Amino acid sequence: MKLVLFVKGWYGGTSPDKHLNLRLQVLKNKQLILIITITFMNNKILVTGGTGYIGSHTVVELQQAGYEVIIVDDLSNSNIGILNQITKISGIEPALVQLDLCEEAQVIDFITAHPEIAGVIHFAAFKAVGESVQNPLKYYRNNFYSLLNLITAFKNRDINFVFSSSCTVYGQPDVLPVTESAQVKKAESPYGNTKQVSEEILQEIATVQKNYRFTALRYFNPVGAHASALIGELPIGIPQNLVPFITQSAIGKRGPITVYGNDYDTPDGSCIRDYIHVVDLAKAHVSALKRLESKIGENYEVFNIGTGNGSSVLDVIHAFEKSTGVKLNYTIGQRRTGDVEKVWGDVLKAESKLNWKSELDLDAMLKSAWAWEEYLNKNEF
Ligand code: NAD
Ligand code: WQD
Repeated sequence: MKLVLFVKGWYGGTSPDKHLNLRLQVLKNKQLILIITITFMNNKILVTGGTGYIGSHTVVELQQAGYEVIIVDDLSNSNIGILNQITKISGIEPALVQLDLCEEAQVIDFITAHPEIAGVIHFAAFKAVGESVQNPLKYYRNNFYSLLNLITAFKNRDINFVFSSSCTVYGQPDVLPVTESAQVKKAESPYGNTKQVSEEILQEIATVQKNYRFTALRYFNPVGAHASALIGELPIGIPQNLVPFITQSAIGKRGPITVYGNDYDTPDGSCIRDYIHVVDLAKAHVSALKRLESKIGENYEVFNIGTGNGSSVLDVIHAFEKSTGVKLNYTIGQRRTGDVEKVWGDVLKAESKLNWKSELDLDAMLKSAWAWEEYLNKNEF
């Protein structure tokens, strides 16, 4: 008779880096033996741009999922005070290495000094569409050098790598909701082009270098803030994006909102987007890492990350008023050059393969964005 009993569990408190396996076995001679196996798992994740808007929310989700995080950020578009805010939420202060990822030698030294890093989430990039049109070199330089230096630094190491891409790669899709297999159209801006070309770079490298496993997440329009209102978006200067402009207008930092056009071919004439709560988006990164770790998929994959629903500019304005009880002042203006009329994502691939689905609705997005704006109004950091 042979009886084998498996007992599995996490060993070592908050961090699932040691996997304990107990096996009780009765041998033929009726002796009972206990086999204990402890597997040490690498769970350290490098988060580039981890003090930024989406990065900071993702750091929290990673910590809460049991990962250890090391952030690399040059603080070019973020505030070091965010580290303290993250610590208030998770109880764990993430390590920060202040480094410009365009500096190849420093990136190589850093990655070489950290052989324990098992995965990378690469957020660090410049992201202002208008600025990229004015200064394309700044965008090509930062967004390409940082990506190429990172990949180069990992050389022959096995690495799971999640890349921040964008629905901007689709331009105006011919069919909605847009799927991952839709044609990628000529980019409207140098920023958009950096995302298209970066995806191509990752795909081509993955074809020949099997030690790299890449996932590109095409985010739709991330908005909102953490439920604690301790972290959120920190736009520098006048916000170009709709929701931060709405919250700043509502709090009195800005004048009335201009709706950029109400003569589009949409039900109310204003543009439609797929707004996604930043916390749902952050969770999608944890799901993407888990899929990479499982090695189930191809070594280059791409996923839409949105809700699958479209809301117009006027929908967002009215939803904000309803969610917060704050009346907004807005006027209808001219169309904004380069704006896509309507786009929302088909998210079935993410739902089935990443086992991820957005959970928070527009009301939650706008309430949390407003709570964050109110927090910022009372607190400096
Ligand atoms: P963010 O500006 O808030 O965060 C980016 C972070 O990267 C900042 O903390 C910045 O200081 C850092 N950084 C930039 N260049 C760096 C460099 N060379 N070395 C080290 N650190 C550097 O931006 P975000 O909104 O959090 O966006 C994160 C990523 O998601 C970006 O790649 C962006 O293109 C992409 N994305 C954003 C949106 C959006 O609407 N926010 C939509 C789609 C895709
Ligand atoms: C949303 C809608 C505006 C401000 C941008 C980037 C895209 C991606 C997400 C990174 C549009 C309208 C806005 C205002 C308005 N980022 N609007 N008045 O343009 O969908 O996408 O951010 O990858 O690449 O282009 O987002 O928030 O700027 O605009 O009427 O004051 O709100 O015209 O229809 P967008 P957005």
